[in-house]
Amino acid sequence: MAIWAVVPAAGKGERFGAGLPKQYLPLCGRSLISYCIELFLAAERIDGIVVALAGDDEDWEQLEPQAPAKPLLTATGGSSRAASVSAALGVIADRVDEKDWVLVHDAARPCLARSDLEQLIDTLEDDEVGGILAAPVADTLKRADGASRVAATVDRNGLWAAQTPQMFRFGLLRKALDEALSAGTPVTDEAMAMERAGYRPRLVAARSANPKVTRPDDLVVAEAVLAANGVVESKR
Ligand code: CTP
Ligand code: MG
Repeated sequence: MAIWAVVPAAGKGERFGAGLPKQYLPLCGRSLISYCIELFLAAERIDGIVVALAGDDEDWEQLEPQAPAKPLLTATGGSSRAASVSAALGVIADRVDEKDWVLVHDAARPCLARSDLEQLIDTLEDDEVGGILAAPVADTLKRADGASRVAATVDRNGLWAAQTPQMFRFGLLRKALDEALSAGTPVTDEAMAMERAGYRPRLVAARSANPKVTRPDDLVVAEAVLAANGVVESKR
């Protein structure tokens, strides 16, 4: 089975609030998105990559790797993450079989460890449906009452925080995403689209930190994780 990496990178980074989308911010001397692209280019088990870009993207062209060792395609993303992923799947539709794998990974997660990528593929490659990298929730969870007071404590037993990559069969994922999009049901990750279609994605526990860069503080965390993983040189 072929495995394609799909990188949604068509967001605006509004919560981060920088002058440019967060996937293009500098992180230890390179653009944030380049970390996952390099990882997928170097990973032997990944056959190709497709990146979903905003229609008005002005940054990808400058940092696009020249003469990549495997197909590196682009798609024009949409107004939601699901629409961006769906557009990317459309671009590879004539290159893949229904049962081939797609591994959707946020451009905003630069710290994905090679070992977790390998572990995800090893765990899921014989699965019928697929699954996601995730971590058991560590904090005590509170439900708010609308006035910033605690209405209840939510039992965190059995709760996981979803990460990416999210690895699914091309045909099943495309159908599930397109059905959610045409029904107008918001799905915030691929697993949610698959759940809506009646599947139960497998949870694969991440061993390394894999934070999503959402707000400025997250860049400091990402830098520390990259250094701890030996991807960049430690400043300490
Ligand atoms: N994404 C996308 N297309 C969209 C929205 C998001 O491809 N229409 C991508 C982002 O570029 C990011 C990933 O989905 O790599 C996760 O989304 P998020 O962290 O929410 O990024 P943004 O939408 O850019 O940030 P914000 O919600 O703060 O605007
Ligand atoms: Mg967003």
